[in-house]
Amino acid sequence: MNNLNIVDHPLIKHKLTIMRNKSTGPKEFRELLREITFLLAYEATRKIETLQFEIETPLEKTTGYAIEDKKVVVVPILRAGLGMVDSILELLPNASVGHIGVYRDPQTLRPVEYYCKLPNVRDATAVFVLDPMLATGFSGVHAVKILKEKGAANVIFVSLIAAPEGVRQFEIHCPDVPIYTAALDRQLNEHGYILPGLGDAGDRLYRTK
Ligand code: URA
Repeated sequence: MNNLNIVDHPLIKHKLTIMRNKSTGPKEFRELLREITFLLAYEATRKIETLQFEIETPLEKTTGYAIEDKKVVVVPILRAGLGMVDSILELLPNASVGHIGVYRDPQTLRPVEYYCKLPNVRDATAVFVLDPMLATGFSGVHAVKILKEKGAANVIFVSLIAAPEGVRQFEIHCPDVPIYTAALDRQLNEHGYILPGLGDAGDRLYRTK
């Protein structure tokens, strides 16, 4: 699993444990998703392009660095990916945000696209795709394919929990896309849910069940 980066910092493990707990309610769940995404983003942006230029401190000249965040694109996969957007925008406030709406056909578990609105990704230095649950990998790979067709050259996938099945899909279909995740769980169940996982991330974020 060369494309997989597990960011299992104690802070993340602690927060993820609370999210997994079935008695954690939507308010806390949303807050924790934001906090963990902030921590994941620290690692996921590690290779982001920086400009170098000269600045003057009160004492002397030195080299300064800047991220051109206007050239960064963030793409949440609807709907659970929405819960991760604000953290990334806190770090990269001028990033553009695209949206890809994909749901899983409950029978085939295959992705069905129902919405796609994207900024220019051809000129983006980095495109971060956000989905808390990398389960079958079908939706994630579908989103990456759309972005690549539109010219995205540097796509990075950020999730909270990944299943081995999903990571494998990425290895097969988009091996150049690094995955940053807080945990690699055991497996999927027959309905495509991650075990042990945390249940349906969208339902838990938005109290739809
Ligand atoms: N989507 C979720 O929200 N949870 C899973 O376990 C798998 C996919």
